[in-house]
Amino acid sequence: MKRFFNLGLCALSAALLLTACGKQEPKTAAAPEQTVYLVGAEATFAPFEYQNEQKEIVGFDVDVMNAIADKGGFKIKFVNTPFEGIFNFLAQGDRDLLASAITITDERKQTVDFSEPYFEANQLIVVPKDSKVTKFADLKNMKVGVQSATTGDDIVQKELGKSNPNIKRLESATLVMKELEGGGVEAVVSDNGVIKNYIKNNPSEGFRFISDPAFPKEYYGIAVKKGNAELLAKVNKGLAAIKADGSYDKIYAKYFADTSK
Ligand code: ARG
Repeated sequence: MKRFFNLGLCALSAALLLTACGKQEPKTAAAPEQTVYLVGAEATFAPFEYQNEQKEIVGFDVDVMNAIADKGGFKIKFVNTPFEGIFNFLAQGDRDLLASAITITDERKQTVDFSEPYFEANQLIVVPKDSKVTKFADLKNMKVGVQSATTGDDIVQKELGKSNPNIKRLESATLVMKELEGGGVEAVVSDNGVIKNYIKNNPSEGFRFISDPAFPKEYYGIAVKKGNAELLAKVNKGLAAIKADGSYDKIYAKYFADTSK
């Protein structure tokens, strides 16, 4: 009997406790919530940003951004974002940051603000091994593939003419390389890190790359909405910290140890 009574009391107090807890919830749920900044990246650009088998966005830019966020004391989440028009996502407030192997250019600086540079790059030409191409000027009358709205697209448009139908502009570097594999284009112009990574991982395709001294040096930067000085300062502070304490070098070595710049 006593036992039952105890049990009953327990159940009763548990019920009371639950109700009490339930009632108090609004007061106690005050743990400060940290803003999670959304980072846009077009994730078919290995090794900078790409999706692993679990569809998570991974790569050099993700590691760099996570390290920066750690140092800067903020939280981030990568969101796959198309490259063409990527800067509009900042303007509209749909992304807070862009880390997508984005080359800092004067034109882009008109619409967004960039962090300090975090990576040096340049364009490369990829051709089948038996191609006669030895320099950029040789592409003049050839079918050339580029990822739309990239610096590779710019450079090719300048050489071949803006509305030249020989330029095939596709929405991702992956599609551009597929086009070269299928013979739809005779050459591709894209970022060195991506080209070298592709050639290393697809030796059976029989491609080689050509570096032309006419291609300028490019520097990647992390972009914020124009005027977002507060977030930009956090990013630059984090970037300086990871450069100073060796964590940037570790990330660099993880991805580029075996490829010369
Ligand atoms: N660096 C080049 C540019 O800024 C290509 C960037 C493409 N990035 C990407 N994740 N698809 O135009």
